[in-house]
Amino acid sequence: MGSTTDLLALAHKHLYGNYKPAPFVLRSGKGAELFDVDGKRYVDLCAGVAVCAVGHAHPKLAARLAEQAGKLLHVSNYFFNEENILLAQELTYASCMDRGLFCNSGAEANEAIFKLARRAAWMKRGTTEGVIVAFHNAFHGRTMGALSMTGTPKYREGFGAVEGVVHLPFGDLAAVQALPTDKHIIAVVVEPVQGEGGVYPAPEGFLAGLRAFCNERGALLLVDEVQTGIARTGSFLAFHEAGIRPDAVALAKGLGGGFPIGAMLTTEEYAGVLTPGTHGSTYGGNALASVAARTVLEIVREEKLAARAKDLGAKLSAMLNDLVQAFPDHCELERGRGLLRGLVLREGFVARDVLPKLQEKGILLTAAGDRVIRFSPPLVVTESELAEGVEAIRAVLPTLTK
Ligand SMILES: Cc1ncc(COP(=O)(O)O)c(C=O)c1O
Repeated sequence: MGSTTDLLALAHKHLYGNYKPAPFVLRSGKGAELFDVDGKRYVDLCAGVAVCAVGHAHPKLAARLAEQAGKLLHVSNYFFNEENILLAQELTYASCMDRGLFCNSGAEANEAIFKLARRAAWMKRGTTEGVIVAFHNAFHGRTMGALSMTGTPKYREGFGAVEGVVHLPFGDLAAVQALPTDKHIIAVVVEPVQGEGGVYPAPEGFLAGLRAFCNERGALLLVDEVQTGIARTGSFLAFHEAGIRPDAVALAKGLGGGFPIGAMLTTEEYAGVLTPGTHGSTYGGNALASVAARTVLEIVREEKLAARAKDLGAKLSAMLNDLVQAFPDHCELERGRGLLRGLVLREGFVARDVLPKLQEKGILLTAAGDRVIRFSPPLVVTESELAEGVEAIRAVLPTLTK
């Protein structure tokens, strides 16, 4: 317990300075509302970057976590735990995949799909030589494998990269198809909507085209649904709308509703690739994380959050389009799917400079890419909370300078 001033002084003294958090300290939340240590209310329209899908302090999630904490937290993967087996059943059913391997974050889920693809190629051809195709602007996480697939150079600067990854323009199927046939393509990795890169939805037919390309070239199609998954875009997973089935999917963020958990899902065909000893994580799929994810899946079903994301996403889109019409000198367009949407500012404006002004007005949003104000609210957000966010932007836009 402490005042904002005291806590910020402690933070600046003791926390490693790789993040640059806003200058207030959050203490509690309810639904899409957050409260800082001084009692100030914020409308949370970012949900911890697309994480708190069922909102803050959801009574069912809070109760189940507390109950499980009194029963069993962790046993390691030397032993089964009941909750993890049931989660694997429920998650593979909901996603139309066959197998689940659990970890703790999005980067780890992407490391798993990266290793799956390399190992599958090695088992088939006796070598890991070949190319993993990723896309410009993509974001797959901060560990070295995930970072190497990430397609924005600023994230990779000063770290080097794992070799064998090529980046092509996102949405450009012809560029993928033009890859020389004497190159072995191990896999293609794609986000259905590029989140961090600036909320770019894949163009119509892109995922299906990649599926066909992978089938032709004997490559795996890897879909990163870390940001788009768990009902955010209006269907349980965004690839469900594309009429395809990937070979492997990476999940995290919304899956635990705020409790850290990630997952790699695969089809049965790749079930035998990562054999015992080839990959793992001490905490992966522990009982508490599994209860969190099972409860999130239950709430998503009961509260019909995919349909809600679609419906509220359309309403938010209309509100943002109104802003674009009203401020043509400041706003270029809005885009997105469901409740993952971006307001694109005109060239010269910097989205992250807008955020502190919105925070003063009690609205929490994030930037994606250089010019995009990103909405990724809890899926339980109300229409009026979304409107509060849009009205705050309306008030702030005239004060912006290039
Ligand atoms: C599409 C995508 N993949 C992977 C990640 C990395 O997830 P994490 O930060 O949990 O490692 C992110 C995080 O923003 C993401 O948006």
